[in-house]
Amino acid sequence: MATVSRQKSSLLGQFNEARSRTLSLVQTLEKDDFVVQTAPFMSPPKWHLGHVSWLLEVVMSKAIKDYEFYSHEFSEYLNSYYHQFGEPHDKDKRGLATRPTVDQVFEYFHMMTNKVDGILQNEKLDEKTKQLFFMAINHECQHQELLIYDLQHLLADRYRPVIKNSMHRTPEQESQAIKINGGLYKMGYTGDEFCYDIELPEHNVYLNDYKIDAYPITNKQYMKFIDDGGYDDFKYWLSDGWDKVQNEKWKAPMYWEKIDGKWMTCDFLGKRKINPSEPVCHVSYYEADAYCKWAGKRLPTEAEWEKAACWDDKNQRKTIFPWGDNPPDNTRANLLESYIWNCDEIGSYPNGKSHYGCHQMIGDVWEWTSSEFSGYPGFKTGFSEYNDKWFANQKVLRGGSFATPSISIRGSYRNFFRLDERWLFSGFRCAEYV
Ligand SMILES: [Fe+2]
Repeated sequence: MATVSRQKSSLLGQFNEARSRTLSLVQTLEKDDFVVQTAPFMSPPKWHLGHVSWLLEVVMSKAIKDYEFYSHEFSEYLNSYYHQFGEPHDKDKRGLATRPTVDQVFEYFHMMTNKVDGILQNEKLDEKTKQLFFMAINHECQHQELLIYDLQHLLADRYRPVIKNSMHRTPEQESQAIKINGGLYKMGYTGDEFCYDIELPEHNVYLNDYKIDAYPITNKQYMKFIDDGGYDDFKYWLSDGWDKVQNEKWKAPMYWEKIDGKWMTCDFLGKRKINPSEPVCHVSYYEADAYCKWAGKRLPTEAEWEKAACWDDKNQRKTIFPWGDNPPDNTRANLLESYIWNCDEIGSYPNGKSHYGCHQMIGDVWEWTSSEFSGYPGFKTGFSEYNDKWFANQKVLRGGSFATPSISIRGSYRNFFRLDERWLFSGFRCAEYV
């Protein structure tokens, strides 16, 4: 198994990089933008900035004896869901609080950066404490991505990124399915760098032979499902999904709008026609599942997805990424640092394809799997209330999106969301039995 040192930079380097990236994401916002909550599922930018700083205090409180939090008022507002640190503020009322102010949150942000920077520079940390700080950095990366989902909801084309690169234009690709032999597969994280507790331990799963799509499902493919009455026929839908379609009047993925007979969207690239060659994005689990049923296929399990992404059959080994063990770069995957601010067209990253030939498994869109989110056999919690209390009513997504910081993604990474959520950058690819 691979044991590579993926993260060349030190804990301190990663920390400072993450803090500056958070600031760069909000650099062009107006002060008014920081406070507004446009939906109960999103959070105001001010809250994200404060919350990632508060989590640094949480880590310090675990690592430093008798650590005192900066402010009870801040802790109450910035606590997301950790009951061990008091009663959290209501999530859907984060946009109603004008205190702490935006200026105070910035002051707090810098104060915590300096505090942690000082600890990382001057203290001799034991392994457990280092892991806690790595977790805080990865947590901040998760919030950078959540912040981008929220900026899409809050501003979309009015958001002005500091860096913006053009997407690729790629000739249309034929959809194809790749056959993968079953048998025992050892899933889970295999490297020697930071990973979350939910990626461990490695364990054997038995897979039957299966086929999996070489590319994520595109807008063009998804439009056929819509045109064929996919949203009008209960027979494709799980019962809860059909209720959602009826109650929310879903007719298409989130942010899609039909204008003069054409499907349009409004995102970071502007108000524009749906591009048929991009992976479909902003679909819930229910929609992904309904599409598969309509297409006579199914979603892959997360073990099937991971084997298709990371197993090198020729060398009989698992790699950290689809292309091997080297970290992502923008020739292999469309992640946050590509700064394209959108999914790229399918076929745009031939250098990033997996050993089996599956494209874009890292980056672009998170991919829904049919697997329930729960602990692997032998799971041990790494941090109480972080992941383990969500082991019910959520499905696993794999692979990261165009908003995922590259330092925080790998083939074994497990994301999870509720089945009806679709404000994230979520798509899917199909699988089938052979
Ligand atoms: Fe958080």
